[in-house]
Amino acid sequence: MNRLSRLALLVGTVTATACAPAIPRVTPDAATRAGADFAHLSAGRELYVGNCGGCHRLSRPGERTAAEWALHMPEMAQEAKLTPEETAAVTAYLTAFARAPGPETAATP
Ligand code: HEC
Repeated sequence: MNRLSRLALLVGTVTATACAPAIPRVTPDAATRAGADFAHLSAGRELYVGNCGGCHRLSRPGERTAAEWALHMPEMAQEAKLTPEETAAVTAYLTAFARAPGPETAATP
């Protein structure tokens, strides 16, 4: 790889990261580990990034446990005016990447 294409790659990576810092992307492997559908989780991530960062910062899914996400989702889905289908996809995404329950265990990304 020459210097210019390496620079282009670096700029591309930095730009992509700046848009949605540390909001983990769904990979087929991660979906399999979560026992969830890849397309469903990917749609959930897009909806989360697109609808949930307007009023406050986007938390990383790993900042909360699945139970904590489930607690906030009904009210926040209303705030974001999500349909039930959209709410299910966002919840599935956040749950798949949530922190393991228990005292400050290592977060999945
Ligand atoms: C219209 C504005 C708005 C939108 C859109 C919105 N939120 Fe919120 N969110 C708030 C406000 C205001 C609070 C704090 C007060 C409260 O808890 O009701 C909050 C609090 C939260 C909290 C709790 C933070 C804490 O630690 O107490 C979470 C988690 C959250 N939102 C997630 C989401 C998610 C997920 C979405 C997208 C589905 C979303 N929010 C969309 C306004 C919004």
